[in-house]
Amino acid sequence: MLSATMERKVVMENLVTTEKMFRAAYEGGFAVGAFNVNNMEIIQGIVEACKEENAPLILQISKGARQYANMRYLKALIQAALKETNLPIVMHLDHGDTYELCRQCVDDGFTSVMIDASHKPFAENAALTRQVVDYAHQNKVVVEAEIGQLGGIEEDVVGVAADDVMKHLTDPAEAEEFVKQTGCDSLAVACGTSHGAYKFKSEPKIAFDVIEQIGKRLPGVPLVMHGSSSVPREFVDLINKYGGNMPHTMGVPEEVLSKAAKTAVCKINIDTDLRLALTAKIRQVFSEHPDQFDPRKYLGPGREAIKEMVRRKLHVLGCAGQADICR
Ligand code: G3H
Ligand code: 13P
Ligand code: ZN
Repeated sequence: MLSATMERKVVMENLVTTEKMFRAAYEGGFAVGAFNVNNMEIIQGIVEACKEENAPLILQISKGARQYANMRYLKALIQAALKETNLPIVMHLDHGDTYELCRQCVDDGFTSVMIDASHKPFAENAALTRQVVDYAHQNKVVVEAEIGQLGGIEEDVVGVAADDVMKHLTDPAEAEEFVKQTGCDSLAVACGTSHGAYKFKSEPKIAFDVIEQIGKRLPGVPLVMHGSSSVPREFVDLINKYGGNMPHTMGVPEEVLSKAAKTAVCKINIDTDLRLALTAKIRQVFSEHPDQFDPRKYLGPGREAIKEMVRRKLHVLGCAGQADICR
């Protein structure tokens, strides 16, 4: 039985932090895809796409994913991915909400953690972020923090008017002060995106002027775009065709993601589009083969659907073919 420190060392040795990949992304005008993982098929679908496309990758684990899958299982699966691919892989905590959770993830061998205290007043957000940065940096782990507020899950709203998310954009002067006070390694900004499948009632306006102003005030600091699924209409249509019931809303158009990837935005978070791909395929198999009950017969095609969705995103973000310069 390995001690906790040894266990952490074994995991950390093969993973990378975001440091080199963000530098390459910043200078090379692309963004690294950060995909949420909850189980084996999701991890395999993402990793296989990145292997075939020779792309760097960030596998991100939310608090809910930790609870659902158990970190020991997720760590073992990510270790297997490292052995299978030799790719630069980051294991990242998505939306950590307390110091204790971030500390636990550092101790578990994550190479990157996000502390999301964006809903708190500036001073509290900065103080909590600073505390996480101190512990993480002592352990060679990098920290993503957030300032400003996105729509979607964070506001508990369904299909907001595109103008509503524009009310809580990151203030560039605050962003500059925040990074100075906290020493965080990357900054998630609110620039008009929104979490979940029910984002906007109409085409969103992404605040590229805000991204540009933050980029000017914080040269060299990698920015992060959350809530970046595009909610492709064809996948919602498939889900509904095969018995689902999802209202249509608009996501963040893929050409907007490609444009953002060329700015200081170095990490783009995508979860919902993978969920849609998996759900559409499983529904299709169930509907076309109602006699089927072997999980491999629906999870296998589901894994393939995730792989194709990730492959599509790697080209949108420009990170296909970039693995070698990110090691
Ligand atoms: O932004 C949140 C991610 O989509 C993770 O969602 O908390 O349901 O795992 P979750
Ligand atoms: P989506 O819900 O748009 O996929 O965003 C995911 C995300 O931001 C995870 O942190
Ligand atoms: Zn997010």
